[in-house]
Amino acid sequence: MKSIIVTGASSGIGRVTAEYFLGQGWRVGLIARRAHLLAQIDHENVIALPCDVTDEAAVDAAFAQFGHLDAYSGASGHSFRQHPATDSGVSGHL
Ligand SMILES: NC(=O)c1ccc[n+]([C@@H]2O[C@H](COP(=O)([O-])OP(=O)(O)OC[C@H]3O[C@@H](n4cnc5c(N)ncnc54)[C@H](OP(=O)(O)O)[C@@H]3O)[C@@H](O)[C@H]2O)c1
Repeated sequence: MKSIIVTGASSGIGRVTAEYFLGQGWRVGLIARRAHLLAQIDHENVIALPCDVTDEAAVDAAFAQFGHLDAYSGASGHSFRQHPATDSGVSGHL
């Protein structure tokens, strides 16, 4: 089974991306801050890894918990009119 971590998985593009890969039979790690929204994605192949992508230690722990990774999708951020989240903690895992 292939594995992917999706950031921004609690809403918008990230959530749609996570649900797409689940539908394709992938194991999916969900990252966003709002754990209660990640918990709504109820699937046997989901691992919710709630954290803030600007917190490098928390991101390190999330990736370590998830284990093997085949792909990564980064969709954490804000609307075009706001500053994007700096997911510096993620880049070290790619
Ligand atoms: N919508 C579009 O048409 C479009 C097109 C091109 C590019 N984009 C870009 O794609 C990104 C996502 O857009 P969207 O429309 O899907 O926005 P959205 O619905 O507001 O989703 C943003 C996601 O990012 C997460 N997030 C934000 N800050 C975070 C942080 N510090 N740590 C962890 N997760 C964080 C949010 O989860 P929590 O709040 O739970 O943490 C949420 O899941 C944005 O950067 C946007 O500019 C959007």
